Amino acid sequence: MHWWTSGGEARAVDTLKQMMQKQGDTWKDFAVAGGAGEAAMTVLKTRAVSGNPPSAAQLKGPDIQEWAGMGFLTDLNGIADAGKWDSIMPKRIAETMKHDGDYVAVPAGVHRINWLWINPEAFQKAGAKVPTTLDEFFEAADKLKAAGIVPIAHGGQNWQDTTIFESLVMAMMGPEDYHKAFVETDEDTLRSDKMVEVFKTFKRIRNYIDPDAAGRDWNLATAMVINGKAGMQIMGDWAKAEFTAANKTPGKDYLCVVMPGTQGDFIYNIDSLAMFKLKNEANKKAQQDLARTVIDKPFQEVFNLNKGSIPVRNDIDMAKFDDCAKQSMKDFQAANDSGKAEPSLAHSMANTSYIQGAVFDVITNFFNDANADPKKATEQLVASIKAAQ
Ligand code: GAL
Repeated sequence: MHWWTSGGEARAVDTLKQMMQKQGDTWKDFAVAGGAGEAAMTVLKTRAVSGNPPSAAQLKGPDIQEWAGMGFLTDLNGIADAGKWDSIMPKRIAETMKHDGDYVAVPAGVHRINWLWINPEAFQKAGAKVPTTLDEFFEAADKLKAAGIVPIAHGGQNWQDTTIFESLVMAMMGPEDYHKAFVETDEDTLRSDKMVEVFKTFKRIRNYIDPDAAGRDWNLATAMVINGKAGMQIMGDWAKAEFTAANKTPGKDYLCVVMPGTQGDFIYNIDSLAMFKLKNEANKKAQQDLARTVIDKPFQEVFNLNKGSIPVRNDIDMAKFDDCAKQSMKDFQAANDSGKAEPSLAHSMANTSYIQGAVFDVITNFFNDANADPKKATEQLVASIKAAQ
């Protein structure tokens, strides 16, 4: 069970289907559309509670621990030991896959959130310069707007709003405060003057999106950048998979630029599959095959080439990857060492689904209300998170 239904995502998941079928396993696809997986998680709960969980489901971050804590997940320690999982991937990834020291999920790839996708032709038409700071970002947006191009392709959905918001938090407050706000939910940080400034800046974004943004799927927003209707999009690198699927070349047809102000920082989102406890022996064997396949080098390469993410293993030859992926790999490794890697809240990595939902509500209500007050929004953030704790 997964939510990989866009053009690029479907191509990526198809690589897994093919590898499984080659081994004689049966692939039953259970895709629940909806970026970032909120709808999929609702369906998963219904299935699991009624005693009919899928063999494997896309589950991420703290949700993995939550499901394992309730006793739903089977451990993968045998395969993990044989495959030396502890030593082939960064500790940060391994820990996310474990519950009480047991592996209960297998990681597929690492996405970076803080990217800006640019159509260089649109920039050229508008006389806009590729931004490296937030000021330059808004200058470019003004130029695009003046040229009649939608400056920022956006889909008005809670997780997309929060994808932009968390990138601004990283840009304006830095990794330490990002951590305090979203991982520790520290009240002083959440209601700080700096956070008020983030809300103010977030509000400015509204001036640069088109009137039809409400409810738009993320991949349709990416399509606007691909076809030049829009100049840029702030989105994780699953967006790259859409460019790849459209046969576009990075550096030429489109640019991947680190979100201005977050150079060296890395908001990460690890995709992973968790395995549910099953009774049927054949299905159990298929689960083991799946876990082994996902971590094996051939899958890590071909899946991530198609998905826009980077391999979770330290020992993959990056020769076939493009410059965006190479930069992502380099930045992820450096950020892991320097403490500048932080988990995405919008993508269920930083906190529980309850806290995430509480933040989503405040961010999206704020974004949709032209008269919303930034200072009040920070207080709402504190109150809403408290109520969810
Ligand atoms: C993320 C997921 C990605 C991508 C994206 C859009 O949460 O980790 O793999 O699919 O949602 O659906």
